Amino acid sequence: METLNVGLVGYKFMGKAHSNAFRKLGMFFSPSMKVCMKAICGRDEAWVRESAEKFGWEGYETSWEKLVTRSDIDMVDIAAPSNVHKEIAIAAAESKKHIFCEKPLALNLKDAREMLAAAEKNGVKHQIGFNYRFVPAVQLAKKLIDEGKIGKIYHFRALYLQDWIIDPDFPLVWRLDKKIAGSGSLGDLGAHVIDIARFLVGEFDSVIGMNKTFIKERPIVEKMTGLSATSQTGAAKGQVTVDDATLFLAEFKNGALGSFEATRFANGHKNGMSFEINGSKGSLKFEFERMNELQFFSSEDEAGTQGFRTIQVTEPVHPYAGAWWPAGHVIGYEHTFVHEMYEFVEAIAKDRQPVPDFNDGVKCCQIIEAVDLSIAERQWIKVDNL
Ligand SMILES: NC(=O)c1ccc[n+]([C@@H]2O[C@H](COP(=O)([O-])OP(=O)(O)OC[C@H]3O[C@@H](n4cnc5c(N)ncnc54)[C@H](O)[C@@H]3O)[C@@H](O)[C@H]2O)c1
Repeated sequence: METLNVGLVGYKFMGKAHSNAFRKLGMFFSPSMKVCMKAICGRDEAWVRESAEKFGWEGYETSWEKLVTRSDIDMVDIAAPSNVHKEIAIAAAESKKHIFCEKPLALNLKDAREMLAAAEKNGVKHQIGFNYRFVPAVQLAKKLIDEGKIGKIYHFRALYLQDWIIDPDFPLVWRLDKKIAGSGSLGDLGAHVIDIARFLVGEFDSVIGMNKTFIKERPIVEKMTGLSATSQTGAAKGQVTVDDATLFLAEFKNGALGSFEATRFANGHKNGMSFEINGSKGSLKFEFERMNELQFFSSEDEAGTQGFRTIQVTEPVHPYAGAWWPAGHVIGYEHTFVHEMYEFVEAIAKDRQPVPDFNDGVKCCQIIEAVDLSIAERQWIKVDNL
């Protein structure tokens, strides 16, 4: 069996999630290629060495430039903030490495298009980290829609609600800096539900939005990891340069209507990603914090016993579920990353393009930019005009 030698950039939140996925892949699935965790990369040598040992990597690098040109690496996985996605991805493509990149694909649409062009020109496989597509319940929703079970879609309604920066003294982390993150709640949270909407409903026609930065200055950060951070007492403050909340409306090309809300100021909501789809024959409802369940209403059920049914998506017949535990033994967030890496490895082994790929990343950046433009110009924007 051939081996895929992986190099990963980033060892914190996503770095850990991806490392865990590579470790679990061979244990639960039977990928057509063996995965070798060759090297993890980060700028701080002591931290990256410790992460390499803890996560199970053969070695480490302190410069991504070195990692992407190593002859013993076949694939580069980018789990660093958005400001470095483009440079790393283009260098990896030019070194003929396959590329996995976290979302949002880039700081802006122009950069995203350059990344896609570089991957295509160099003939490498590319995938983007829209991991929520890989929740078995979301895959089941797709199957039911494709089978016509909910009929013609009229509405898509999505919320992505968090509250981790609601304290005005929460530090100025990189996610609040436009130069590093590109966008705030829209690019971070909205990106996922935009992708789910494209996956389940179809392409966007036009959008109009509104946004707000509720807290405009925050203390300079001292330490951060994942979604936690600290600052020194009495630290100087710096400007927040991204949106704290973005709401927008959309019309899809197939005539369906959509409404979207992405915010980090929804007190009590930790990772409240949810959506509802209403069609001519039925409806579907999903909440990430109950990710093993999908709610399905069918107007074709017998009159008198109609109602939303809760499907527990853990049976071997359900997408990906058969690889894990017996029915009813629920799975979690980390499993979505195993599923997406399985897709990537299989695509390389079978010489096909993985899904979702940089084209999906570009489309998502196009919609984000259209929403931002609609806010600036206070009018509907046709997505294809960008
Ligand atoms: N798919 C998801 O659900 C999801 C969740 C969180 C984050 N993300 C995305 O993943 C990416 C990383 O986010 P995170 O939460 O893991 O961030 P993080 O701050 O936890 O970790 C970022 C990592 O990148 C490294 N890094 C930064 N600049 C670097 C450079 N120039 N060279 C080498 N390493 C560098 C840091 O050392 C750190 O290890 C972002 O694009 C983010 O939007 C996706």
